[in-house]
This record gives sequence, C-alpha cells and structure tokens, in this order.
Amino acid sequence: MTNETVLWMLLLCLFPSCATDTVPIGTFITECQDRHFWMSIKSSFLGKKFRFDVQDGSGVHTLSGQPAAECGYTVVLDSLGDLVLRASYLACHVENEKDTAFRLLVWLVNTDVDGEETTYPLQLSCPLRHPWKPREIVCEENYMEVSTMKQVPTNIQKGMDWTPTPPVLLEEGLREWRVAFREPRNQQGGMERPPMKEQTLSVEMAQLLGYHIGTTETRVLLRCAYGSRLSYKLQEKGIEVEVVNATILYKHHWMLLKVDTSVACTTSKAYMDGDNILLRFPKILSSLVLPPHKDMGLRLGVERSFLSDCTTRQRGYDLQEQDGAVELRIPFGAEGGFIKSQVVDGQYTQSYFLDLFYMLQWEDFQWSLTEYRSFRPLSVHLPKPPVLVNETSLSESMFSVSLGLFPLDVSLSSVTVGDRPMSWVEAEQMGVHLAHVPFPNGSHAYLLQTPFSHPLVTQQYLGEGYRRYTLVLTFVLSVPPNSDLYQHPATVEADVQDVVLPRVEGGCTAKGVRLLLHNGTMDSQWEVYVGGRRLDWELVELGGYALETRQDYFSMLVPLYALGMAYEGLSLQGLVVTISVTFVDRETAREEHSFNQRCVFPVKELLVCLPDNTALVIVDTSSRTQTPPVEPKLTSLLDPTCVPVETKGARALYTFSLDSCGTVTTLEEDYIIYTNKVQFWPKVPVGLKTLKSPYSQFSVPVGCVHPVNGTRMLTIYQPRTLQTWPYVLASVSHHNHPRAEPHPFIGGRKRNKLPAVG
Ligand SMILES: *[C@@H]1O[C@H](CO)[C@@H](O)[C@H](O)[C@H]1NC(C)=O
Ligand SMILES: *[C@@H]1O[C@H](CO)[C@@H](O)[C@H](O)[C@H]1NC(C)=O
Ligand SMILES: *[C@@H]1O[C@H](CO)[C@@H](O)[C@H](O)[C@H]1NC(C)=O
Ligand SMILES: *[C@@H]1O[C@H](CO)[C@@H](O)[C@H](O)[C@H]1NC(C)=O
Ligand SMILES: *[C@@H]1O[C@H](CO)[C@@H](O)[C@H](O)[C@H]1NC(C)=O
Repeated sequence: MTNETVLWMLLLCLFPSCATDTVPIGTFITECQDRHFWMSIKSSFLGKKFRFDVQDGSGVHTLSGQPAAECGYTVVLDSLGDLVLRASYLACHVENEKDTAFRLLVWLVNTDVDGEETTYPLQLSCPLRHPWKPREIVCEENYMEVSTMKQVPTNIQKGMDWTPTPPVLLEEGLREWRVAFREPRNQQGGMERPPMKEQTLSVEMAQLLGYHIGTTETRVLLRCAYGSRLSYKLQEKGIEVEVVNATILYKHHWMLLKVDTSVACTTSKAYMDGDNILLRFPKILSSLVLPPHKDMGLRLGVERSFLSDCTTRQRGYDLQEQDGAVELRIPFGAEGGFIKSQVVDGQYTQSYFLDLFYMLQWEDFQWSLTEYRSFRPLSVHLPKPPVLVNETSLSESMFSVSLGLFPLDVSLSSVTVGDRPMSWVEAEQMGVHLAHVPFPNGSHAYLLQTPFSHPLVTQQYLGEGYRRYTLVLTFVLSVPPNSDLYQHPATVEADVQDVVLPRVEGGCTAKGVRLLLHNGTMDSQWEVYVGGRRLDWELVELGGYALETRQDYFSMLVPLYALGMAYEGLSLQGLVVTISVTFVDRETAREEHSFNQRCVFPVKELLVCLPDNTALVIVDTSSRTQTPPVEPKLTSLLDPTCVPVETKGARALYTFSLDSCGTVTTLEEDYIIYTNKVQFWPKVPVGLKTLKSPYSQFSVPVGCVHPVNGTRMLTIYQPRTLQTWPYVLASVSHHNHPRAEPHPFIGGRKRNKLPAVG
C-alpha cells in the first residue's frame, strides 16, 4: 500500500447548501489504499448528526447499515473520534474504469444542532497500483468480500477477440446467473468438514438474502455482511471462522462457467493475555484452500501502512506460528496504537486502540494466487490502577512518592495533603513540592515531596524513641474530554527513632522544689503529671507554682505543702517530701518517662494528719514562753502513756492513732473532729500545792478533721497561731501567669479568674 496521495478532492459547489469556504485545512484527509478509498474527517468538524451520501449516474444514495456493508462501504469513528470511510474499489456506485482506475463522488452531510444540513462533496479518484490477483478476499469490519478473476475459456481467450460487455449489459447478463450456496446439513458448527446441503439461487434471490453478486470487466464478485442467511461458523485451529460457501454459475456465450466465490473470515476477538493483547487467527483457512498449499507469507500493517519486520520487533509486537495458527501479541500501550484514559465508576481505566490489518498470500491447486486482507482494529479496555512508588528517604527526612504511569491525556489537577486540598501553586507555597516526570516513551508520572517536619504530616509516638510520620494524600487527576476527576488516595509512613524526651532536673530550695523541664523533640505529645495530678493551669494556680520559660527549658517552683507534692515522712530532721513528674503519651496513655525529686525540709513544729487515721506532730517546747523550758521527754498526750517517739533538744515527735491516746471525738456536721493535747503537768508534791508553782506547765492542742463520709486526705498544719487549734492550712502563695497561649507542658488554657485559696 502507499501513502502517496494520488487521488484528488474536488469541492464542488453544486448545491446551495454546500459550503467550502469554512473548511479548515486538514479537515478531510483522503488516501488511495491497495483495494479501497480511504477518507477521514476531523471529529471537530462533525455536526450533531452526519452521514455520507454517494452519487453515481443513477442518483444519490445514502450509506447506512446493512445495505452499505453489502455494497462495500465501512463507516466508523476511530479512536480519536474522527469519522473514517473506507470504500472498496469494487463497491456499488464506484465508477470503474476497466478495473484499473476508480472514481467515487461522496457527499458528507453534516447536520448542525438546529437541524440544518450542510453538504460537502468530495470527488475521490484512485488508480490501481497493484494488479488484481486471481482471487482476492477482504475481511472488513462489517463485510466479507471475494473477487475472482473472470474465468474465460482459454480457447476464447487465445483464439477469439474478447469484447468487453458494457456495464448495463453485464447487469442484464447477471439475471441469468445462478449461485450455488452450500451449508452444513445441521447447523451445529464446530466440525471442520461437515456434511453439506446445497441450494442454487438466482442472483436476484441471493441479493434478497443479503448477497451482493456482481461482475466487473475482469472480475466476479460476492460480498455480504457478517451473519448473512447462508453463512455458517466453524472452528479452525480453535478459532471461530465465518464461512460462505458459494459457487457462481455464469453463462459465457454458449458455455456454462463456474467460479468458486467462497469466502471465510476470522471473527474471533482479541483478548488480554497477561500484559499483552493476543490476537489469534488461522494461517491457513482450510475452507479456502484446495491442497497442495503454498504459503506466500504474512504481512502486518498498522494505520494503513505495512510494517517492516524491524519496526514490528522494535515496537515489541510478537508474531508466532503455533500449529497453523498465528499468535500476535502486542503489549498494551505499544507504539502504533493510541491510549485513551477514562474514569469508570471512580476507577481509572485505559483503552488502547490499534488500527491493525494483515495480509496473507498463498497458492493452492485452485488459484495460482490468493490475496487475503483482514482489517482487525483492536480495542481493549482495562482498569489500570496507577502505581504509587514510594521513594521516601529516611536519611533526608523527606517523603517522596510518585504516581504513574499516565498517558498524555491525563493531568494532575490538584492534591490533598492531610485534609487540605491545594492547587499546584498553593502546594508550592505551602512547601509541598510537586513535579511532572516525563518518560521518553510519552508516558509520565507525578512526584510529590515534603519533609517529615511539614505541619500537614502527622506524627505519632511509637515508644522507645520512635515516631511515625504519616503523610496522607490524594492525587486528583483530570481526564478529558469531560475533565472527569480521578482521585487516588495514598498513605505513606516512615518510622524514625528521632524522639528526644524532655529531660527533668530537680532541686530543693528553702521554699519548695525547683523543677527544670528541658525541651524534647515531641513535647506536645506528652501530658505532664505532677504528683499524679495533670499539670494544667488550674493546678498551677491552686498549687501556686511559679513558672519561668526560657529558650530551651521551662522552670517551675513548687512550694512546700502545695498540691502535687507527696508527703513521705516526718522526723525530727524534717519533713520528707517527694515530687514526681511523669510524662504520659497523650494517645496511648502509656507512661513514657518519670522523674522523682525528694527533699527534706527542716521544720520546727508541724502537725500531719494522714488518711489512715494517724497523726504525727512535732512540738517545740522552747517555742512556748516557758521558763524554764519543759523537758520534751516529759510531755505526753492526754493519755499519759502516750509519750514522744523521739525527742531532741526542746522538740518532741509524736505518732499516734486517732482512736487512741485519749483522743476526743466530736461530730460537727459532716466532719469528725479529733482532739488531743501534747501536755506537761508536773506532779507537784501535795505540800507545795498552794505555792506558786516552780514548774512550767505546757499544753498544745493537736488534732485532725476528717469528713464523716468521703475520702480522707493528708493534711499538714503549720503552727502559725499557737495555742489555737485547728491551725491554719499551710499558706499558699499566689503568682501571676499572664500567658494564655497553649503551653507544651501545661494542659488546657489558663483560666482568667480562679477562686483564691488560703
Ligand atoms: C463447499 O462445499 C463443498 C461441498 O461440500 C466442499 O467440497 C467445499 O470444500 C466447500 N468449500 C468451502 C469454502 O467450505
Ligand atoms: C514507558 O517508559 C516507562 C519508564 O521507562 C516504563 O516503565 C513503561 O513501561 C513504558 N511504557 C510503555 C507503554 O512502554
Ligand atoms: C515507604 O518508604 C518508607 C521509607 O523507606 C518506609 O518506611 C515505608 O514503609 C514505605 N511504605 C509506605 C506505604 O509508607
Ligand atoms: C522549649 O519549651 C518552651 C516551653 O517549655 C518553649 O517556649 C520554647 O519555645 C521551647 N523551645 C524550643 C527550641 O522548642
Ligand atoms: C454517710 O453515709 C451513710 C451511708 O451512705 C449515710 O447513712 C449517712 O447519713 C452519711 N452521713 C453523712 C453525715 O453524710
């Protein structure tokens, strides 16, 4: 076949509706193929409705449906939506000049939305470039055609002048022709040589059954659409073949001549075999071959041109012969074809189109050469979920993912990172790098990169210093022609051991415990507990914690007796307290890290009421205006057998249970009040009773208050106002914390007004 354009196109303006001035260059493309006219019309030019009419001496004929197929016309929309017309040189209405030159007047009739018709006349003209072979078979998309050399008895051919009969007379002569059709006796199909029954029909009758029987100067012709009345199917090497077994009987002068006009075409479809499209067809159609058979080769063509073996290989097409069947494997998307994207039910799919044809040639006993052409445009639709490639680099702390591969028609319209949709420009502004990655073969991918530290990347603590960075994203791709959107969600993660926990330093001061919380790398992950209480602004206020924030640490002074501090013991050395700081994972509630600071505070006097009904008290006999001071060893509680557990200098330590040592219990509303006394009543000799006592007396009330019902608390009382009990609660200092913004270590937001406690 040749691509050389030898036909010419006339845009005749014969009718008022005809418009030629509005046709852009390249709208109509025409070519002369080996055995047919070829024409395509750009999709953009087509109206709401369109059709082809052809015109010959007898008038204008509209091409449509079955009659068009029987007449040798194929009208299709190709993968780009362009309108394609293929018309056999032997088609009806073609002006045939001795089977060597062909002319056809075609009208494109375009109907616009308003129903207005515009017609474009096109005069196609093609010379025959390759001489007709004795038998030629065409398997078109919509019809089967066979044409054979008109058999002329050799004596006539040699001895007499053969005067060609004019076409009209040919038609006249056809009336006397007969066609013998043979079909299997029982139409089960499948058998290679079924028993046949025969029926002989007039040409007129055959025509009624869908067979176009014709003759030209040198050829006899039979054409029919697929699935015609007298056709049948059989399996050839396991491949479905449609056959019409017909012999045309025609009279030539006084002689009756017979010509086999059987035709057979493969009707099986191509299918996917792994990543390849597999097309199988028989190399020898046994119904068309009378042995001995000589294979004269197979040629493959794409888009109207034959391919060289080299091109075939380069494109990755694989042609194999297996037991008389040809297997052609074409990789999905291979060069020569065309990929179109679609979104079907939210799924990304690709359609691959390849305008394939092939030609077989053989010799057999009956025909010195048969040329067999089969037009097999392939189209395969496949869901093609794009592939996400994870190129995340732990060493660079960078997420890097690419999504591909896409054909040219797909473009990235936006992405969603975290829950934030963004265009390309916005992504770039927000530190999300997007790139288009083209490949030499025309396909492309999209690359997205963003650092682990990006605010839209979520972090999760995994324990043992590991954290998981998670990038949740959605690629939104746009697919023409309707800009359908395809969404591809993806989640990538990276687990990295890069978490530095906050470091706590502690120290004891005269007034309390100082805690330094040095910043870690994931501070908002933690909830801080001080002495088992969540550190929030309320605790800061209630506890009177003094805060100070520095560049890389935060200090907190917890006053003695404040909330959060734990009482450990009381001895004459002092009050032992501990403060524990615990970091708890906000998500898992798992304790991650804890720190304890223990401090001993010297105290002169103190009363501690423990929840377990025990009271501890240190009294200093010298702090009372006693002269001389009372020897602490001599003091006791109300029950004189309850004496100090320890004494030193003027100080004595008592430990006693509230239901012993003469403790007096009174009930007041919801509280039980326990009262006792540390006292010294010297045993004054009876005779001295009237004298002013030389001995000092000593009495300090001690006791505890506990709720009747409800939890008992540890309470520490400081002896500020002496002699009166209960003592005032340990005083709490108040600090101002003007900051209201969230604090990495302190939960909640600072409340504006808190009730004063004291
Ligand atoms: C047509 O039928 C005849 C008679 O059965 C048979 O000999 C011939 O091979 C058949 N031709 C084809 C093309 O099937
Ligand atoms: C195109 O090139 C890419 C990258 O080299 C490759 O992965 C892909 O398979 C190629 N596509 C086709 C259809 O050959
Ligand atoms: C992506 O790559 C990172 C780093 O190599 C790896 O940790 C992660 O498991 C990979 N896969 C996904 C789905 O995130
Ligand atoms: C350290 O933590 C304090 C609060 O505790 C905060 O104000 C400061 O910005 C942090 N510094 C760094 C470098 O993260
Ligand atoms: C304490 O609880 C008991 C039982 O629940 C109840 O009978 C009693 O009235 C409560 N006492 C006070 C003072 O609330």
